[in-house]
Amino acid sequence: MKRIFSNREIVLGVTGSIAAYKACEIASRLTEYGANVTPVLTKSACELVGSATFEAICGRAAITHMFAPLQNPDVEHIAVAQRAHLYLIAPATANFIARATHGIADDWLTTTLLATRAPILIAPAMNTNMYEHPATQENMQTLRRRGVYFVGPDSGRLACKTIGPGRLIDPMKIVEACVPLVSERHDLKNVRIVMTSGGTHEPIDPVRYIGNRSSGKMGRALALEAIARGASVTVVTGPSEVAMPEGALAIPVETAAQMAEAVVNLAQDADVFIGAAAVADYRVETPSNSKKKKSGKKLDLTLVENPDVLGLVGAVKRAKQILVGFAAETDDLLANAALKLKKKQLDLIIANEVNTDVSGFGKDTSKAALIGRDGKVDDLPLLTKEEVAERIMDRVVALIHAA
Ligand code: PMT
Repeated sequence: MKRIFSNREIVLGVTGSIAAYKACEIASRLTEYGANVTPVLTKSACELVGSATFEAICGRAAITHMFAPLQNPDVEHIAVAQRAHLYLIAPATANFIARATHGIADDWLTTTLLATRAPILIAPAMNTNMYEHPATQENMQTLRRRGVYFVGPDSGRLACKTIGPGRLIDPMKIVEACVPLVSERHDLKNVRIVMTSGGTHEPIDPVRYIGNRSSGKMGRALALEAIARGASVTVVTGPSEVAMPEGALAIPVETAAQMAEAVVNLAQDADVFIGAAAVADYRVETPSNSKKKKSGKKLDLTLVENPDVLGLVGAVKRAKQILVGFAAETDDLLANAALKLKKKQLDLIIANEVNTDVSGFGKDTSKAALIGRDGKVDDLPLLTKEEVAERIMDRVVALIHAA
């Protein structure tokens, strides 16, 4: 995330929703990821949350008045609007959405909204009836038609005790929705990427399963990097510790067989397929429909082979389609990976060590080597999984250009 947000100028508009306090978390994450955040609070937002909090988080003066004394000429509204790489309005009230729709410029935020040419991302938060009101819905449609982006809202229990759509979506999802809008790299624009991520659960009985330690972190990093570069990303994801990022279409599955079925239906239209999931090679031949009781004797399980998901995609690989796989090895990493590269007709394989404290399942870092069809090995140093994902996408871009 740091590479994507570093030094990007983001105007964070906070309006008078009860969820205004959550904008502090958004400001904090964006700042942590290296963005330069200019907090702008509307009059009613100032009734709900203090500007000093935002100034402390962002390290910048919060703008709360149209004609604030010019502490510093740079705050001059046109300069800020022109410097912005993104306008993020979170939370956004029905009133703000209506004023934005009709070009009303009666405060600093709505005035500069007309002056900026930066992308605008709105995260609505309001009572369900207000959100579902035709006026609000039509206003949002009008803004979408003008190219304004929306993220959320979520459905659930609101502060006003109603239950339904209108809750501000999770702050991390809002930050993730900023990624493709602030990213400076668009070398995967319109490329369709289908990938697998996470582990699989192979049932023994309704209570027990055979699984593995995949957390989904590598898959999430790949999806985020691809989205940042303009790709459309579909992730068939087994059970994982981490969620797929906002902007990716996540298709949850449990077993290898379900993963194979989902992938075969999707991979045909993909420009790139990446097999990052730890797919179980075996499943229990006959899972029990009821919980197996302890009997004091050994429990024998007959295991049968699962479909090779990546192999299925490789078998029907289209011309110019790019196939990327991983090799999770504990011994002879490069030799075993090179064998898989050939056997599965891959264009690129990521050979990653999985038996150390700093690489593989559940870790935030990875010690990997990228091996191309030509056998050339790019032995990477220990990197974060986000950095590995960046290197992988660099190679995918090169493969697309060479196809
Ligand atoms: O999710 P994390 O905690 O971040 O961990 C990341 C990871 C270690 C799981 C990931 O980096 C990784 O190595 N994924 C591949 C794990 C795996 O199953 O490797 P393998 O060598 O057993 O399989 C080789 C390739 O075939 C992989 O691309 C795998 O997705 C694919 N495969 C394997 C078996 C199978 N039945 N179907 C498959 O598609």
